[in-house]
Amino acid sequence: MNNLLITGGAGFIGSNFVHHVMQTHPGYRVIVFDKLTYAGNLDNLKDVSTDPRYTFVQGDICDAETVKRVMREQQIDAIVNFAADTHVDRSLMDAGTFIQTDVYGTYVLLEAAKEFGVERYHQISTDEVYGEVLEGRSTEVDRLHTRSPYSASKAGGDLMCLAYFTSFGVPVTITRGSNNIGPYQYPEKVVPLFITNAIDNVPLPLYGDGSQMRDYQYVQDHCEGIDVVLHHGSPGEIYNLGTGVETRNIDMAQLILKLLGRSQSLIQPITDRPGHDRRYALDCGKIQALGWHSRHNFEETIEKTVHWYVENQWWWRKIKSGAHYEEYYERQYAGRETDLKLA
Ligand code: NAD
Ligand code: DAU
Repeated sequence: MNNLLITGGAGFIGSNFVHHVMQTHPGYRVIVFDKLTYAGNLDNLKDVSTDPRYTFVQGDICDAETVKRVMREQQIDAIVNFAADTHVDRSLMDAGTFIQTDVYGTYVLLEAAKEFGVERYHQISTDEVYGEVLEGRSTEVDRLHTRSPYSASKAGGDLMCLAYFTSFGVPVTITRGSNNIGPYQYPEKVVPLFITNAIDNVPLPLYGDGSQMRDYQYVQDHCEGIDVVLHHGSPGEIYNLGTGVETRNIDMAQLILKLLGRSQSLIQPITDRPGHDRRYALDCGKIQALGWHSRHNFEETIEKTVHWYVENQWWWRKIKSGAHYEEYYERQYAGRETDLKLA
């Protein structure tokens, strides 16, 4: 596996994975293929941009011709697909691009994987495909019960991957990760949004009463897990990837304010997300049997992330001061304040 195509490699997890691969597999060439949507950002890859082992191609995974040209020219051995539309709230505003990229784009990549006979096609998926899990933990054989257009699109991509394994023998693996946080996460997702608002003393818009739970994992741990599955996972198999510890959103918000020395009164309850999944929880026994464990606990994960956003204001201030972000923020949050009691 010498030449790795990393689609969506200019996004949050993809760029962290590029850094991880270039540090841990010095013999690999990394070809990042990314459309550079609002969420793609070459600043995320600034420090590898002059490395001779790195190539960037701007392109859409739905564009079969360009995908195949890059496969041929770069002699790709394996594909790791991070490219997706990823924000649940945006999928509630407009689901079309989610279906296009997360389902059709996955199909285009699988066709290329089949035609060029890659050693591995790895799909980055999400715990959201299991839907809300009020009790217990999801295992990889649980039925899919998607509830948002985002999760439905991701499930469509997963099923297409499994179909290409069964029908054509494409050596597919899938990882289903919980909520990642860490460097280079676009500040529409809750943790970087709350940290950057708190730095600026701006209210933290908390959905509902804040009692919903997520398993927040450090992005580097997730990247290490993906690496393990890419190299040691079995074709046709799915692996859950998370810490196994869930935290309420209200507790996450309070910890961020405490670490930044800001008043807890910055927490502003707002009307809930429609169809908001209360809890996801993963059983990660299958990947742990391959020797992977997440190395950071919740407090360390939040502390490291807060520290990064404090130290890297050059990165997120550019984004937050842009017209795209401001328009989105207005559309998403204006007039939603409530006097709901917090959990
Ligand atoms: P992100 O939104 O930060 O980045 C997505 C990247 O994909 C961007 O660089 C964007 O430009 C690119 N992209 C989008 N559409 C494209 C297209 N049509 N062609 C080529 N590139 C395109 O996303 P992320 O948070 O880094 O998530 C990466 C993957 O991990 C996604 O598949 C997501 O579903 C999955 N995932 C994310 C999380 C999380 O907590 N962020 C957790 C589990 C799984
Ligand atoms: O679980 C994995 C998923 O995690 C990934 O597949 C998605 O790509 C990623 O976006 C993330 O989805 P979530 O919906 O869980 O993440 P988000 O950061 O949008 O929200 C996390 C929690 O915080 C959720 O319970 C909703 C809440 N929230 C979110 C926002 C944006 C708020 O209370 N206020 C907010 O402003």
